Amino acid sequence: MCGIVGYASSTQTVCGKPLEVCLQGLGRLEYRGYDSAGVALVAPGMKSVAWRKKSGRLSNLVQDIEAQPMPDATAGIGHTRWATNGEPNDVNAHPHISQDGNIGLIHNGIIENAAQLKFDLQAEGYTFASSTDTEVVAKLLGKIANEIVESTGSPDLFKAVRRTARMLTGAFTILAVDVRQPGIVVGARHDSPLVVGLGEGENFLGSDVAAFVAYTKEAMELGQDEAVCISGSQVEVTDFDGNQVTDSKRFTVTWDASAAQKGGWDSYMDKEIHEEPTAVADTLLGRFDANGDLNLDEVRIAPETFRQIDKIIIVACGTASYAGLVAKYAIEHWVRIPVEVELAHEFRYRDPILTPRTLIVAISQSGETMDTLMALRHAREQGSQVLAICNTQGSTIPRESDAVLYTHAGPEIAVASTKAFVAQIVASYLLGLYLAQVKGTMFRDEIHQHVDSLKAMPQKIQQVLDTQTETVARAAKSLVNAKSFLFLGRHVGYPVAMEGALKLKEIAYTFTEGFAAGELKHGPIALVEPGEPIVVIVPSSRGRDLLHNKVISAIEEVKARGAFVIAVAEEGDPDAERYADVVFWRPACPTLMSPLVDVVPLQLFALDMAKDKGLDVDKPRNLAKSVTVE
Ligand code: F6R
Repeated sequence: MCGIVGYASSTQTVCGKPLEVCLQGLGRLEYRGYDSAGVALVAPGMKSVAWRKKSGRLSNLVQDIEAQPMPDATAGIGHTRWATNGEPNDVNAHPHISQDGNIGLIHNGIIENAAQLKFDLQAEGYTFASSTDTEVVAKLLGKIANEIVESTGSPDLFKAVRRTARMLTGAFTILAVDVRQPGIVVGARHDSPLVVGLGEGENFLGSDVAAFVAYTKEAMELGQDEAVCISGSQVEVTDFDGNQVTDSKRFTVTWDASAAQKGGWDSYMDKEIHEEPTAVADTLLGRFDANGDLNLDEVRIAPETFRQIDKIIIVACGTASYAGLVAKYAIEHWVRIPVEVELAHEFRYRDPILTPRTLIVAISQSGETMDTLMALRHAREQGSQVLAICNTQGSTIPRESDAVLYTHAGPEIAVASTKAFVAQIVASYLLGLYLAQVKGTMFRDEIHQHVDSLKAMPQKIQQVLDTQTETVARAAKSLVNAKSFLFLGRHVGYPVAMEGALKLKEIAYTFTEGFAAGELKHGPIALVEPGEPIVVIVPSSRGRDLLHNKVISAIEEVKARGAFVIAVAEEGDPDAERYADVVFWRPACPTLMSPLVDVVPLQLFALDMAKDKGLDVDKPRNLAKSVTVE
């Protein structure tokens, strides 16, 4: 959703860097999804904040600034907007400016009491140009900042932002600059992300580290309901009442700016699918001791506590929830405790049964998904332990969890999640195997066998990428005009079918439905007419023969009704060869490992289909990478 950048340097050096940092940062945050962009700059001697904003792509803003350059500055803020409140146009874009032009403000989130605040301000003579809640905050902040000047004789933006933040309800990150204090940027956050970047003689703020990673890898987390004031030489953090916060956690970003670039690929999605072998290998790295046993000390939950766990509830959304569904099959099988998988936005509204022995596993690539965050907060309030499986350092979900197991997939920029999915499965499997180890539900050599299978997966994923790409591309081309697709799977193939369907609908805008193959005769078979494309995940006959045979029967049933079948099947499967029109081959691997390879051709298929339709695969319409509102 909205992307936020802030930059402050010394007031001695008025230059083009604040604008450069804001535009660079916004470029790196483009992946979050947006519909307009803007910047605000301040420097000593300026009469009012210099600002510019444009609807549409960031390039529109850049062109506008090239045509009419902005002044040099000492501090600046930049914003990409994903409209929640007021349509996407130039007027509603951020920054919004205080009535007297002294203050520029950007915002991510939704201010729930904006209507009342606006009403009060209007009664005092304030006027509004846009239909956004952000303009209300900008005008309110301007008023409060002026009241402080009147009562103390000098401006204090930090105090004004804190006072404003205390009056807001809803979710927000706000950043502001004031022309009367041109050496600082002030921010505040409540239920919305903000991270600090620590530089030399300059400091940064960002919705996530991508905003400033090209300038510094040293970063600092900001807690809930905290405000921050950065200058070139200082970073000061307080709560909204002004009490100093001294224990903010610092961390070093583990990837560099080049990891967030396309690196020669046509699209980020293309690149990220091809990074899956590395994402799996890196997520396994450093998780074993010298004897090959699992060592998850980093998660910060004592083995004793893990031993007490008698139920797991996985909460997540979208792709992450499908990774959770895959994990359910493995963890229940290995640990023999029930695992529920719940969409995070449904979880807290159904009054779930939680005890101190329930482990909540919150899976999230971004670490900022508001639905997942709310679910974990609810679970913690009920006394359950929460473990986050997350890909983003410094993000809110791991910070608010009792423990965290990071996936090491590297930055995922394309809106459609791909490499994070496989890394999430691997991290969940590590958790399952660790639980089996501490609870003693499996023999040590069995656990080692599964670990060996996991370690073999990067090479098998690579094999799929090396051998199946052309078949997938041909299939996508031949089906580019298909109106709808059905995806079928059983056992771990069921969540993979749903993930394949999600990928195709979100980036190729094709109507798709993924469901359990066993459901076919209970309704969906009515949709099958001659030529209907159906993608079927076929389990290995070396696993449970029964499962394999049942899925093959499902293929026969839809073929009998004229369907066009694409099977994802194990190399050499004669039944798949015989019944399917096209087969995407998977190298032999244990059943529980098969999702890690089966999803790959489905991701490539969606990618090719979107490309064949001439769509922007990295930025599908209406979607945001990081869904920071409920
Ligand atoms: C689909 C996709 C989404 C996310 C979901 C959760 O390709 O990307 O379904 O998986 O919004 O996001 P995270 O994992 O960031 O919590």
